[in-house]
Amino acid sequence: MSQQNKQSVKVFAPATVANVACGFDIIGLALESTGDEMEIRRSETPGVRITGIEGADLPLEASQNVAGVALQALLQEYGQPELGLEVFIRKLIQPGSGIGSSAASAAGAVAGANILLNNHFSPEALVRFAMEGERLACGTPHADNVAPAIMGGFTLVRSYQPLDVVRLHTPEDLWVTVIHPQIEVKTSDARGILKQQVLLKDAIRQWGNVGALVAGLYREDYALISRSLEDVIVEPIRAILIPAFYDLKLRCKDAGALGGGISGSGPSVFMLSKGENNARAVAAMMEEIYAPLGVDYKIYVSRISTSGVKEI
Ligand code: HSE
Repeated sequence: MSQQNKQSVKVFAPATVANVACGFDIIGLALESTGDEMEIRRSETPGVRITGIEGADLPLEASQNVAGVALQALLQEYGQPELGLEVFIRKLIQPGSGIGSSAASAAGAVAGANILLNNHFSPEALVRFAMEGERLACGTPHADNVAPAIMGGFTLVRSYQPLDVVRLHTPEDLWVTVIHPQIEVKTSDARGILKQQVLLKDAIRQWGNVGALVAGLYREDYALISRSLEDVIVEPIRAILIPAFYDLKLRCKDAGALGGGISGSGPSVFMLSKGENNARAVAAMMEEIYAPLGVDYKIYVSRISTSGVKEI
């Protein structure tokens, strides 16, 4: 069957860690081993329909669903009013987890549709469509989850207007450990508590860290990456939302992590490590800290996905 005639596609849409400590709303990375699965198919009926969602209680109405609105944005720009798309979503990332649940659905939907459309759109256009899902989910069309979900690896949003997304280098031996405490933190709430002004001295420290993190990734300089994983602007405000946050940060570094912070808007917490052994030692430390707390949790150990959404 030629690519043009393809009627349906199944994709894996990765979970993502946004902010990556110092890069609030601009830096993100994609996980290799955790994500949603989706099927997108052409339909005779024009427009977008969500045919089913497994694993979460989310709206089927396309205009109320993050995958639905992202696809509507894509269809509007595609400009063929007779085109219809149906989506089935298997949610493996819990909504409100802080590892890009809404982003995975929106990114998977548009990247999958783009396969059916013979890669008509550029990755950057897909990011733009998927951002409409984020607008629906939390009120702000931030791109630091959808960009890595679509492009893979680490991404940096240099500018929102106009949108300018830069894909960054991913060091070979960099691993991610994520703990997801089973409490819900709404992104809109976690954004609502932030201050709208920052002190110049904090801005200086933060952009020093962002620049050095990018340099550290390219140089595969793990010590520099470690020093750069610091957030002096957002984390001090959001840390109170996460049980044992500072305990996690300190003791996971003792256990071998390079550093980490809140994953996106929380409640998940991520740590980066050099090598799988360190990443697993960090997971064991997370477990040791959380087991006595009486809060349920899930822990993920993953490489960084360099492909983003992929066909399965
Ligand atoms: N950059 C966003 C925030 C990510 O921190 O609010 C949300 O997952």
